[in-house]
Amino acid sequence: MRAVTYDSFATDNSRLTIGEVPDPKVGPGQVLIEVRAAGVNPVDWKIMTGGLDPMIDTVFPVIPGWDVAGVVTSLGPDVPEFAIGDEVMAYARKDVVQAGSYAQYIAVAAPAVARKPAALDWPQAGGLPLAGLTARRTLDRLEIGPGDVLLVHGASGGVGSLGVQIAVDRGARVLGTASPGNHDFLRGLGAEPIAYGDGLADRVRELAPDGVQAVADFAGGQLETTLAVLAPKGRHASILDPAVLEHGGHLIWVRPDGAGLAELAALVERGALTVEVAATHPLDEVGAALDASRTGHTRGKIVLVP
Ligand SMILES: NC(=O)c1ccc[n+]([C@@H]2O[C@H](COP(=O)([O-])OP(=O)(O)OC[C@H]3O[C@@H](n4cnc5c(N)ncnc54)[C@H](OP(=O)(O)O)[C@@H]3O)[C@@H](O)[C@H]2O)c1
Repeated sequence: MRAVTYDSFATDNSRLTIGEVPDPKVGPGQVLIEVRAAGVNPVDWKIMTGGLDPMIDTVFPVIPGWDVAGVVTSLGPDVPEFAIGDEVMAYARKDVVQAGSYAQYIAVAAPAVARKPAALDWPQAGGLPLAGLTARRTLDRLEIGPGDVLLVHGASGGVGSLGVQIAVDRGARVLGTASPGNHDFLRGLGAEPIAYGDGLADRVRELAPDGVQAVADFAGGQLETTLAVLAPKGRHASILDPAVLEHGGHLIWVRPDGAGLAELAALVERGALTVEVAATHPLDEVGAALDASRTGHTRGKIVLVP
């Protein structure tokens, strides 16, 4: 099959190649997915630099990519949940960094897989799993519900744009930070937009004079503002900043979770959640897709379509 690979860590795209590699094997409890879309996530290029090497083993050559949507073309032994031809999606992180989704095929453990909702096209479905599960896990840990005022840092990115919609669906009033060019986008998702940067805490207090009940940090580096705007007994979580643990916050690390992904699909089916796709690229343009993600200013998701 055709796949993107790299054979050593690098801070740029210089080690990336696109070519033929052996097809994946399909083990017990796994499905083989023909990839129609592979979401690009910041963690993909962070792994390429060796940034996760202290916690996850890497086997070179690596096929990057942890997000996938596609069609089941083969089943390993004993996978009654799925059939050949099923349209599915998955957050396909494995115990070892090696066989990812920037490829024509990927084998994924069935418990990580969920059916693709018909309301999403392939790029949207490929962009949903990692970011959607991260947003959902964060809002679950914060116990977001009706009556909460929630501040979302980084509300227009992959995780943020999904987190805003899920929190609005749970009945929260959502204040979201983004650059001014994304403020209309945030309004469309149901959030009240605020510019990030100097004076952010004052701008939050203008909208929520009594403070906010919860803060979800999807951007990093926001702890000072978070602590300044939280109401008494407020809850906070970050997907990037371990320092939140010293201040009673939650540090979130997304897990493969087919059941959780199916619940996100149900939100999509009832019109409460959609996926903004900023750009799609063929595998040959993987370098451009990763460079765009590295800017840190993606609206919604960048997606590879092999
Ligand atoms: N712990 C986990 O499990 C987990 C899971 C997923 C992601 N992450 C990490 O979380 C981060 C966000 O992921 P993502 O996929 O949402 O990234 P993304 O799609 O690149 O979005 C980044 C967002 O950050 C905003 N932003 C940029 N600079 C900012 C600043 N100075 N202050 C506030 N917001 C700022 C951008 O808004 P504008 O475009 O409007 O400037 C953009 O919406 C990444 O570092 C990723 O690696 C962690």
